[in-house]
Amino acid sequence: MSHSVSRPRRSVLYVPATNEKALAKLSSLACDAVILDLEDAVLPHEKVAARERLGQFLAQRPASKREYVVRINALSSEWGADDLAAASGWNADGVLLPKVATPRDILEAGDVLDDAAAPDELKLWAMVETPRALINIGAIAELGRDPASRLACLVAGTNDIVKETGVLMTPDRRYLMPWLMQMVLAARAGGLDMLDGVSNDFRDLDAFARDCAEASAMGFDGKTVIYPAQIDGANSAFSPSAEALAEARAIADAFALPDNASRGVISLGGKMVERLHLVQAEKVLARAAMIAEMTGDEK
Ligand code: COA
Ligand code: MG
Repeated sequence: MSHSVSRPRRSVLYVPATNEKALAKLSSLACDAVILDLEDAVLPHEKVAARERLGQFLAQRPASKREYVVRINALSSEWGADDLAAASGWNADGVLLPKVATPRDILEAGDVLDDAAAPDELKLWAMVETPRALINIGAIAELGRDPASRLACLVAGTNDIVKETGVLMTPDRRYLMPWLMQMVLAARAGGLDMLDGVSNDFRDLDAFARDCAEASAMGFDGKTVIYPAQIDGANSAFSPSAEALAEARAIADAFALPDNASRGVISLGGKMVERLHLVQAEKVLARAAMIAEMTGDEK
């Protein structure tokens, strides 16, 4: 991990704002964050009622450390502006902008939140799901370097990318890979979290575990999920493994030895270990501590 340690977003669950049963279930689920969806999962004739319902839901939001993020409709749609205006006054942690094409889309949404005097803690998240967003990904992610932009997290929208580009979706996602890796790189450059897209086949948990392991290896910070049974797999794939933790502790311990205090590079278990590895190890340990704090687990 080359970026600073942010709160864990290992499993980020989409919930259609119109699904009462799913909303009621949230308090029993162990996802790190929830995306309350007003966009793709809500039919046009339900948009206005869904917005009202979500306002009520968030007003009585259960106390928890988990993040609640509202996915509004595109600002170019007939509902987007009203969604954003409403969300600016809600007790949410973030607003997820769909169909983003350019940095300007994010700056304009940020201006609306600023004008509405929304608290600085209300962050913007952005879907990366259009060809223009893929082309402009570097400039979009660069906004993350300016806290005033509110931009905190990018979310791959792989279903829309497939639809908009015509690439074939295969189990190994081979044709999407260059774009996914580019997203991770851009997010690192901008100091943002990068979440992988959803796995539609929610009954196949073995395939899902493979998807998560690969996404973690690719450098994603977490995975968006659509179904409760997917949460555990994402949480475990995006937590530091026992092996990674042991290695991080060994590196931190080694550099803490008085003998190594003035050394830039040491030998540990037959491998060269530099201070950059210590920085990396400290991040792994900080991340594990944050996960433990958030979930109440001892690690
Ligand atoms: N969040 C919270 N709870 C959910 C859920 C979700 N996303 N998806 C399912 N559940 C709950 C169901 O309400 C049900 O609850 P119960 O045990 O109290 O009855 C339980 O999990 C089992 O669900 P099941 O009946 O097997 O599935 P379903 O047919 O109700 O739902 C989907 C399947 C795919 C329609 C549903 O999971 C869903 O809508 N997911 C989110 C889709 C979405 O938001 N897409 C847009 C972004 S990609
Ligand atoms: Mg989409």
